[in-house]
Amino acid sequence: MLNQDIISIDQFDRETLEGIFEVSLFLEKEIKGRGSLDLLKGKVMASLFFEPSTRTRFSFESAMEKLGGNLVSATGVNFSSMAKGETLEDTIKTIERYADVIVIRHPEMGSARIAADSSNIPVLNAGDGPGEHPTQALLDFYTIKKEMGKVEGLNIAMIGDLKHGRTIHSLLKLLSHYENINYYLVSPEELKIPSEYLKGIKSYKEIKTLVEVLPDADVLYMTRIQKERFASLKEYEKLKDCFVLNKKMLESAKKDMIIMHPLPRVSEIAVDVDEDPRAKYFGQVENGLYVRMALLALVLGKLKLKEKVVI
Ligand code: CP
Repeated sequence: MLNQDIISIDQFDRETLEGIFEVSLFLEKEIKGRGSLDLLKGKVMASLFFEPSTRTRFSFESAMEKLGGNLVSATGVNFSSMAKGETLEDTIKTIERYADVIVIRHPEMGSARIAADSSNIPVLNAGDGPGEHPTQALLDFYTIKKEMGKVEGLNIAMIGDLKHGRTIHSLLKLLSHYENINYYLVSPEELKIPSEYLKGIKSYKEIKTLVEVLPDADVLYMTRIQKERFASLKEYEKLKDCFVLNKKMLESAKKDMIIMHPLPRVSEIAVDVDEDPRAKYFGQVENGLYVRMALLALVLGKLKLKEKVVI
């Protein structure tokens, strides 16, 4: 994966997905055993976040630091010369002179592709508006596989804003490489999954209530209703509390199912769910660190897929 951009989950075949999983697992064990590594010593990551982020930004930055690398960063258009009218293309052509890899989050769909086309160093898409969030899909895959031991044969319920939820879009594309998964897509009519993300998905049901899917789900993937993507506040207010999971509701769920959420949450998971051992969303946050370490090490050529590495 040396020098590869990571823009869309479409670019990965099944073998590569499995390879990234293995490298992430390897780095998780190394970091848990040794605290930090020198793998990316001398390398610089430019962290460009033109849209709010906690997990993606901090996990990429922490991943770089824990692997011995360094950071240069900008958060918000107002903290770069884009506030003076500089284009994204010129911004990227400038930053590539100072860094070895660029991580970018931007509110416009397609912006990560534009950045990659302007850059001679790898560009990693940390979310492009309502488009994709490929590194989140990789960490979601990592979480499901680590917790359940597999993805095939599972009943996976995706709940909430399936129209705007880029984590859902990328995860569905990723999982389309795997057979025998039953999907339950739970959303209000206004927030249905766009049909383009159902290509390659063989078995799915579109459902209107959360309680219907609870007894069957092996993976319950909750998402936030994305206020910032609505044209009108009134429309958001109407839908914002359409699905709320609480501890009592989990009585009907399987004992060995897992609850995931890319976070941030607003009201869709009550805090009383957090103490349930099936709630994996903060573990999912931590997994982002290992997966992003793996991606940085791979695109910077410090690890290779399938290589049995000894650092
Ligand atoms: N899951 C996720 O993308 O979180 P942030 O928006 O906090 O980065």
